[in-house]
Formats: sequence, C-alpha cells, structure tokens
Amino acid sequence: MWSEKTCHIGRRVEFHEQLESTNSWTAACCSHPDSAGMVVIANHQVAGRGQYGRVWQSRPGSSLLMSVVLHPPPELRRPVILTAFAAVAVAEAIRELTGVQARLKWPNDLLVRGKKVCGILIETGAATVVGIGLNLSQTAEEFEQAGLTEATSLSLVSAETSDIPNTARVVIRWLDDEYGRLLAGEQVAVEADWKWRLGLLGRPVELELLDGSIVTGRLREIGFDGLEVDLGRQSIRVIPPELVRQLRACT
Ligand code: BTN
Repeated sequence: MWSEKTCHIGRRVEFHEQLESTNSWTAACCSHPDSAGMVVIANHQVAGRGQYGRVWQSRPGSSLLMSVVLHPPPELRRPVILTAFAAVAVAEAIRELTGVQARLKWPNDLLVRGKKVCGILIETGAATVVGIGLNLSQTAEEFEQAGLTEATSLSLVSAETSDIPNTARVVIRWLDDEYGRLLAGEQVAVEADWKWRLGLLGRPVELELLDGSIVTGRLREIGFDGLEVDLGRQSIRVIPPELVRQLRACT
C-alpha cells in the first residue's frame, strides 16, 4: 500500500512486474502535462537502457528500477540541473537508508566507496523522464560473474536490508523535496549539494569535452552556469557544463 504524501513527485505510483524499460514505457504513455510527477517502477526490465545506448541489466527484484515523469518549467529544462537534483535526492535517500555517503561521478553516476551503486538516465521528449537504476541486493559474486567489478549494491555497503517498496518510498520523498527546492527558486541550494558530492573543487582534474578535446588543470569553479579550470598562467571557462562529457580527478 502506498501511503507517502508528496507535493510534486509520487502522487501516482505504478508498480509493474515486468516492462521492457521503465523509461521507454513512461515516455510512450506520459506526454500529457497531467502525468507530471507520476512514478513507474518495475521489478524487472527485459530491455533496460543506460547512458550512451548501453544496456542496463539486473536480476529480477534486485534493483530499484524507476522512472519519474516531469514537465519542468523552461528554466529547469537543462540536463545538468535535472541530473543534479535527481542525483542529490538519491544520494540523500542512500544516506537515510544506510548511513553511507554517496559521491557523484560526472555526469550522472552515484558511487559508494568508489563503486557504482546507481545510474541515472534523463531523456527529454514530450515529457522529461528521469530514469533511476539503484542496485539493492546484488552480491559481489553476481557482479563479478556479470563482469561488473566496479559495481556495488546497498546490501554490500550496509547491514540494513533495502527492499524495493521501502527504498522507493524514501527515494520518492527525497526527489519530491529536491524538486520542490528547484521549483521554489532554490537552485543554489541544490547546486551546492551537487558540488559537494562531486568533490572536485580545487583539485587537479581532466575534462573531456563533447568535441573530443581534453583539458587538464585545477578546477577553480563549477556550477550550473559553467566550469573554470586553472591551467597555470591562464584559465579557461567551459560554458555550459553540458559540453563536458567526462570530468574526473587526476591522480
Ligand atoms: C547509466 O548509468 O547508464 C544509467 C542507467 C539508468 C538505468 C535506469 S533503470 C530505470 C530506467 N529505465 C531504463 O531503461 N533505464 C533507467
């Protein structure tokens, strides 16, 4: 039974035993503005999709596979802002559920202890669909057999059990809170949380831009408006941040 009261996201929540992809299903059926805030969850996806056309596979019942429909106002219809709010919300949910802090890996992965626990796929058409795949109960052996040695799950990082309905309830509440902050004009607060979870400010970094060029330097500033990288005698600004394909700390 669904009992959480939310303002923007999760007033309608649908559970499906199996879908091809929650993102594809949601995009096909939720173009009308009335669908704003609807959440679609599947126990299993047979054609789950990841970033850059990759497949997203998980054993039935082992992950939270969720898509959220948004019809954001024009000023919020930017990949960097939508990714940031979703990533911060899922990170806060992970902290509430397990007590563990998740870090953000550019552009939209969440890592716990250096391993990927969640991927986010934002797709924009008639509606904006925020797809979230959060690993819950996979074992280390399972990841190893699938060749995913850089992946982890909540049950591997915490003794607290994370079932799908309870995790969904907590994630939806945080998504609702963070989206509410964006709608209330508190972008700066979401941006500050996002910057902190990226953890790259002031550090030597490598950027790969969409045109394939590579920039290395010290990250002087990062925000929804752009990045500034200190190259030594000069600095460069990258505006907007959506031009950055990869951003990582140099070791
Ligand atoms: C990535 O890291 O590549 C993003 C993965 C996003 C996976 C989720 S699972 C729920 C939703 N439906 C999909 O087909 N993909 C997203």
